[in-house]
Amino acid sequence: MTKIFDFKDKINEEELKEASFVIKENGLVIFPTETVYGLGANALNEEAVSKIFIAKGRPNDNPLIVHISNFDMLNELTKNITDIEKKLIDAFFPGPFTLILEKSDLVPNNVTCNLNTVGIRMPSNKIANRLIELSGPIAAPSANISGRPSGTKASDIIEEFNDKVDIIIDGGSTKIGLESTVVKVINGVPTILRPGYVTLEDIKKVIGKAIVHDKIINNEKVLSPGLKYKHYAPESKCLLVFSDKEDKQIEYINQIIKPDMIVIGYKEHKNKIKTDNYFVHGSINNYEEISHSIFSLLREADKLKPSLIIIEGVHNMGLGMAINNRLIRSCSHNYINV
Ligand code: TXA
Ligand code: MG
Repeated sequence: MTKIFDFKDKINEEELKEASFVIKENGLVIFPTETVYGLGANALNEEAVSKIFIAKGRPNDNPLIVHISNFDMLNELTKNITDIEKKLIDAFFPGPFTLILEKSDLVPNNVTCNLNTVGIRMPSNKIANRLIELSGPIAAPSANISGRPSGTKASDIIEEFNDKVDIIIDGGSTKIGLESTVVKVINGVPTILRPGYVTLEDIKKVIGKAIVHDKIINNEKVLSPGLKYKHYAPESKCLLVFSDKEDKQIEYINQIIKPDMIVIGYKEHKNKIKTDNYFVHGSINNYEEISHSIFSLLREADKLKPSLIIIEGVHNMGLGMAINNRLIRSCSHNYINV
């Protein structure tokens, strides 16, 4: 039986210790981070790590991120950190940022799927941080069955993982709601392999130069191995609709909407789009609201088994790039620019 620990109001020290023992003894613990929930296991134990792949149904060529809570762990797990990598670490750890670094021999091969690099992230969420401090490094993908929207509320994933993990720590709804930015320094240039809350502009401010990998710009199936699979997808069919002109976007949705469809859109459009099935993902002026709510809304909409989920898209800049990157995949590349 999976134990549920409720840390929404405050951390229970005894239960936190129990969760850290479970990790040390090679069990599985779902825990909150500031991005999404993680499905964690002892990053230094191959057998523990293999349980993650089984519980998630994850393809075994999709490497995991190792979560740390201090710089000693970073030094143990990696080697040959360059000056540029050091600057990125200084600027973005702890936070919603994963850096791909050369791995040390301590990291088991199934964490990295035999790559000689490892993704390292130091979360800023207090529960995650304290758990890792007690247990040691934790390998963790997002807590969702492979292919489904990432878990951003414990209540969204309890059913999915009941009896598949030892403990679920409920820390409430995660602050950011989208996974970390994944960056690899390639030929001296920080290269975004997965867009996230830390944006291209943020990285340029620190290093001067940075790029988004070509295949991300073209929304192709890519370098960061996880991006080639069906991803973030509800079971219902989804359509992403975007236009530079707000009126056109509204008009197009009004033309195609049917009573058994659901719209997930801007709060400013709630009264303009003619449907009773309207879920607000956020404001036109606040993409943080959208990143925070989107995965949970996709799950909520999916439960109602609509014939189509129509999603209003965002501008492809700043945090909008990360939101679009996820939404295009949620819709299995079914999107239209009107
Ligand atoms: O915010 C997050 O990053 C969350 C929380 C739990 O930390 N984790 C997460 O993990 O999103 P996951 O496994 O769902 O996504 C990890 C991404 C995948 O796209 C994977 O391919 C990429 O990071 N990745 C991991 N190690 C890599 C490596 N050595 N080289 C290139 N990409 C790597
Ligand atoms: Mg994931």
